Amino acid sequence: VTTPSLVIEQRSTRALSAAQFRAVRSLCDEAYGDDLANYFADIGPGEHLLGWRDGALVAHLMWVTRWLERAGHPGLRTAYVELVATAPLLRRRGYATALLERFPSLVTGYDLAALGPATERLYTRLGWRYWRGPLFVRRDNRLIATPEERIMILPLPRTPPLDLDASLSVEWRPGEVW
Ligand SMILES: CC(C)(COP(=O)(O)OP(=O)(O)OC[C@H]1O[C@@H](n2cnc3c(N)ncnc32)[C@H](O)[C@@H]1OP(=O)(O)O)[C@@H](O)C(=O)NCCC(=O)NCCS
Repeated sequence: VTTPSLVIEQRSTRALSAAQFRAVRSLCDEAYGDDLANYFADIGPGEHLLGWRDGALVAHLMWVTRWLERAGHPGLRTAYVELVATAPLLRRRGYATALLERFPSLVTGYDLAALGPATERLYTRLGWRYWRGPLFVRRDNRLIATPEERIMILPLPRTPPLDLDASLSVEWRPGEVW
């Protein structure tokens, strides 16, 4: 199978035209089989990677800034990846991989990258690793355990040495906290 190459473009949410935002919304709704209006509202604005083929949006990911904290260490300013999506009819051609391969070079100013995986081989192949230690959410100066959650991290050039078995927390947000 030959795969036409993707044209990859980075845009912040606020710089998307109305038509581009609609294209992002409908691609993600279609990929996830759900109406993600609330999800988009909960995660807030960020930076998008748009994968275009013949002028059509066929693949997407975005990242938002979050603060991951280990006890006794400074917080890690984290590029938290969301909404990795490829149009259903155009999967298994390497489009999500192409966006994920571009991503690290765009977030070198961050301390870490992380995501909540719905699939894992795609990410492990590209160097993402599961965090093994217990996860918590910080809310109102309290730590709330989230034992049902798993996340993966990708070290970046600025990432300090990490103990993947340590506790890790993130600030609360509505909806999907991790
Ligand atoms: C997960 C998702 C984003 C993957 O998108 P994709 O563009 O198909 O991803 P890729 O093509 O890069 O890789 C997918 C698989 O196709 C394989 N592949 C890549 N290029 C290929 C090619 N040219 N020929 C055959 N297979 C290929 C990859 O090896 C990979 O296989 P594996 O994961 O079984 O090891 C897509 O399935 C999707 O939108 N799912 C619904 C939303 C979702 O769950 N997102 C993930 C949230 S964490």
